Amino acid sequence: MLGGGIVKGSLTLIGGDPGVGKSTLLTQVANTVAESSQQCVLYVSGEESVAQVGLRARRMRLNSQNLLFLSETDADTIVATIRESGPSVAIVDSIQSVMAHDVEALPGSVSQLRECALRFLQLAKSSGTPVFLVGHVTKDGSIAGPKVLEHMVDTVLYLEGERFNQYRLLRSTKNRFGPTHEVGVFEMQGKGLVEVSNPSAVFLAERAQSAAGSVVTVAMEGTRPILQEIQALVSRSSLAMPRRSATGFDANRLHLLTAVLSRRTNIPLHDQDVYLNVVGGLRVEEPSADLAAALAIVSSTRDHPLPSDMIALGEVGLSGELRGVGQLEQRLREAAKLGFLRALVPSSAPASLRDIDVTRVATVRDALRSVNL
Ligand code: TYD
Ligand code: MG
Repeated sequence: MLGGGIVKGSLTLIGGDPGVGKSTLLTQVANTVAESSQQCVLYVSGEESVAQVGLRARRMRLNSQNLLFLSETDADTIVATIRESGPSVAIVDSIQSVMAHDVEALPGSVSQLRECALRFLQLAKSSGTPVFLVGHVTKDGSIAGPKVLEHMVDTVLYLEGERFNQYRLLRSTKNRFGPTHEVGVFEMQGKGLVEVSNPSAVFLAERAQSAAGSVVTVAMEGTRPILQEIQALVSRSSLAMPRRSATGFDANRLHLLTAVLSRRTNIPLHDQDVYLNVVGGLRVEEPSADLAAALAIVSSTRDHPLPSDMIALGEVGLSGELRGVGQLEQRLREAAKLGFLRALVPSSAPASLRDIDVTRVATVRDALRSVNL
């Protein structure tokens, strides 16, 4: 995630909703670093007592001799302690709980957050100690969120995942030392977060074979291709303005796709509610998933399942044309690895594609025809 390791003197921000697992992840990271380094790792918690963090660490069987905990909220005391103990890594959990006493503002306010982060930045740069800051994403405006610190830090990671789902995604949105948009996939288990080494298989594990409205696509998460199942449910609407609801998919793109389908094919959607869902709490941000979403919508409309060994890739343009996607070979290879046998790809796709049986289609309409929709 960090692009090859923890850089000396770097300041990393880890954001995420309360309860998503930031403390859990960092406790594990702290323990791993502590075990492999001669120096100590200092974990400062401003939210929990040493007894609490210690209890959690013990329950997770993290008991490196070099892992030290401190419960403290005063910024200057924390900075001084880090300077004195010279840890290989310092973690401050959370930046919202830390307070600089010479700043006249409440803890968690924008000015406190900025000022405290600035002190940790100076500390990291002058001492060479890498510092991790935890920042809670907040819904209401009374406590400032990690966004206000993004420009100050070297690296920004977000831990995300629905709370009712055991999977967590760690994404890098900024990294001065490595590639961004990398993603790490973890599962929250009884002993903390465990890496999921083959996320595609996990996200497809519960896929119903030959169900109408389900299509698989391959999204690039950073440098990593991940298979994602896109589901659509189309049902008759009783509303004057039919519903268009997207989970894990851009709502504007869904509107665009339904408009294109209505105009460029003969699929009547004006009186239909359309729900689109990316399975597993994932989020697709690439237009390369357009074709899969469009096929899922039509598959549900017609109640006609698509071949379960097929994936679809392609951006849908306003005139219904299919546009190329990047890193096609890598995506197809990942799909082939998981047992997919055919792929619908835009006609602009290079001629040299192997790994999987490809069907080139120029428009959404051609794509529908090729799967008998
Ligand atoms: P936590 O790391 O405290 O979240 P954050 O610091 O982001 O607020 O994790 C909170 C949740 O994780 C909590 O609801 C319980 C769950 N959890 C596990 O399922 N297994 C574990 O081993 C641990 C430590 C926590
Ligand atoms: Mg926490």
